[in-house]
Amino acid sequence: MTKHRSIAIDGPSGAGKSTLARALAKGLGYLYVDTGAIYRTVGLQACRTGVDPENSEAVTALLPNLEIGMGYGEDGVQRMYLNGEDVSQAIRQHEISRYASCVSALPAVRAFLLDRQRKLAEEHDVVMDGRDIGTVVLPQADVKIFLTAAPEARARRRWLELRERGEEADYDTILQDVKDRDEKDTHRATAPLRQAEDAVLADTTELDLDQSLALLMNIVKERLQA
Ligand code: DC
Repeated sequence: MTKHRSIAIDGPSGAGKSTLARALAKGLGYLYVDTGAIYRTVGLQACRTGVDPENSEAVTALLPNLEIGMGYGEDGVQRMYLNGEDVSQAIRQHEISRYASCVSALPAVRAFLLDRQRKLAEEHDVVMDGRDIGTVVLPQADVKIFLTAAPEARARRRWLELRERGEEADYDTILQDVKDRDEKDTHRATAPLRQAEDAVLADTTELDLDQSLALLMNIVKERLQA
């Protein structure tokens, strides 16, 4: 069996991971795997069933009946299915971010999703983004990048994105949300967000999308040749 290549991209929310990882995957001809979308799908189910996302027992009880599907549209965009329903849009609702952050802190949820993520990397060349890809999911990844930006820059990007979609958005609330999620994601006991020792740090605070993508492409090329 030929070993597939894997590129792990971790970092806080709003650092541009999804957009950049997707573009990077396209450029390289790899499969793009957005692992946050998988946690969001679990969070969505908790929300829909009225389960407290911090209640480990209640969330764990949802898992056996949870059928999470993943597919790719003709545009190459990852789509998520929850018990057969396409929830790709629903998981992007602002409220679901909080649910996803809470359920992703539960060890049972992380264990439930770990093999599924590893299997994707065994079967495909992947660019996988998340919080613990380089540290836990794919510690042997060929390239690891820790993508970050100042909280204010990340909040501003999120604010612009929501406004473009015509959603109500208050910058200060978003900034507070970004900080709260950083706090939760970096301080949880299981698989906290942290830079892997062998990851390259990429800070996009002062960079636009094209510049950020060029930076990532350079890192990947250098590392794959090394
Ligand atoms: O990247 P995102 O905002 O779509 O992720 C949603 C939540 O899921 C976020 O709070 C962190 C969590 N997450 C995680 O814990 N581990 C991952 N590999 C990906 C996301």
